[in-house]
Amino acid sequence: MNSHIKKIYSFYASIYDILFGKIFEHGRHTALKMMDIKPNDIILEVGVGTGLSLPLYPKGTNIIGIDLSAEMLLKAKAKKMKHTLNNVHLSTMDASLMAFRNNTFHKVIASHVITVVPDPLHTLNEIKRVCKKDGDIFILNYAGIDNQFVSQFEKIISPLRDKLGLGKHFDLEILLKQAHLTIINKHHVNIFNACQLIQCKNDTSSENIQ
Ligand SMILES: C[S@@+](CC[C@H](N)C(=O)[O-])C[C@H]1O[C@@H](n2cnc3c(N)ncnc32)[C@H](O)[C@@H]1O
Repeated sequence: MNSHIKKIYSFYASIYDILFGKIFEHGRHTALKMMDIKPNDIILEVGVGTGLSLPLYPKGTNIIGIDLSAEMLLKAKAKKMKHTLNNVHLSTMDASLMAFRNNTFHKVIASHVITVVPDPLHTLNEIKRVCKKDGDIFILNYAGIDNQFVSQFEKIISPLRDKLGLGKHFDLEILLKQAHLTIINKHHVNIFNACQLIQCKNDTSSENIQ
């Protein structure tokens, strides 16, 4: 499955910014505001892609970006060079099996990634593992347009979207519950408010209750 994603994103790499740069711009800016980054924060961006968000981070903050696709990362590396982002470190890595220690990051963001990975719950648990206890996890994703006809159509084309590496249709809130993540902040972003930006606390105490 990962080889399929790698293949697809090696194709998208050269056209990704043209296709998704402008239309997801509002979501990226809102996410950065919601993240409320402090100078000593260590941030992980999972599935950083072509690095569209990299120039938005405060220059003094440590940002680690990982992605499965070497071609997408090449584009991110070009942005790092262009904007002299010495605070940004990029690595090829699978979000479902990260080479970071437990409790490493103050804040982790996954933007348009959770619906793309083959096992979203497993990836969320891996994100929780590397995020500090009481750290913050931000998920930004296409959530669908609030219209019965459109949403029916989206369900029908979901397998095709999945094949094209553009994410499958599922209920993010159910998934977050399964991962024992509690939503503490939520915004609708981007055109038609079609995307959802969610902030969760990495509060492991809730796992003990259930
Ligand atoms: C839709 S793009 C989003 C890129 C960027 N986060 C953004 O918002 O523009 C999905 C990205 O997730 C990456 N990806 C997919 N599966 C992954 C995995 N298991 N581990 C790391 N990255 C992955 C893809 O290579 C791609 O760059």
